[in-house]
Amino acid sequence: MKKIAFTLSMAAAVTLTAAEAPADKQAVAKEGVGYIKQLGKELKSNLKKYLKQDPSGLQAAYFCSKSAQDLTQKVNAKFPKGVTVRRTALKLRNPRDKADATDIEVMKKMEAQINAGTFKKKPVVMDVGGKARVYVPLMTQKACLKCHGPVEKIDPKVAELIKKNYPQDRATGFKEGDLRGVIVAELPVDQ
Ligand code: HEC
Repeated sequence: MKKIAFTLSMAAAVTLTAAEAPADKQAVAKEGVGYIKQLGKELKSNLKKYLKQDPSGLQAAYFCSKSAQDLTQKVNAKFPKGVTVRRTALKLRNPRDKADATDIEVMKKMEAQINAGTFKKKPVVMDVGGKARVYVPLMTQKACLKCHGPVEKIDPKVAELIKKNYPQDRATGFKEGDLRGVIVAELPVDQ
């Protein structure tokens, strides 16, 4: 079976060069996913731990607001030179996670596919001028709703903490199966 395990946007497909044949893209996707998993694992294990300690979500929300950025930096510090991993979304909680044009293009495409019922949860590889980006979708799961679900269903203390720390929060009102955001790895590619 020769199914390629990633999607290319039209823009990326047009700029494909010989050095970026699908086999290479597949290797890039694999490498990127490896970095992405390191951040994902750190965040998820902490989130799980705090949600277990305090099912209201308050401790976990405190953890996310206090430590998500630091933890992201700490994970990044361990990567090879030129490699970065971050989270972003169309509807943001922390303005520091702001999406750029390529991020928006990829996420809008994912959302369109979700709406059309054609979405497959798989990494997307993009070419951004001498660097590759690998995008892994973060789907809204039940556990996410405690802090990203409909406002009226969020524990009042959690809602208060979020409002205080993120006065411009737009990351509520999600339902299970929605695209909450992405984790993006950026890595140098051999020319
Ligand atoms: C206990 C509360 C809580 C839960 C549960 C939670 N989040 Fe968040 N989430 C936050 C907070 C707080 C931030 C902002 C972190 C920061 O300041 O960097 C955030 C940020 C994010 C971001 C970064 C983009 C942005 O808007 O700033 C993504 C992506 C995200 N969450 C996805 C998820 C997903 C997927 C789940 C479920 C697996 C989840 N979250 C569960 C509280 C939560």
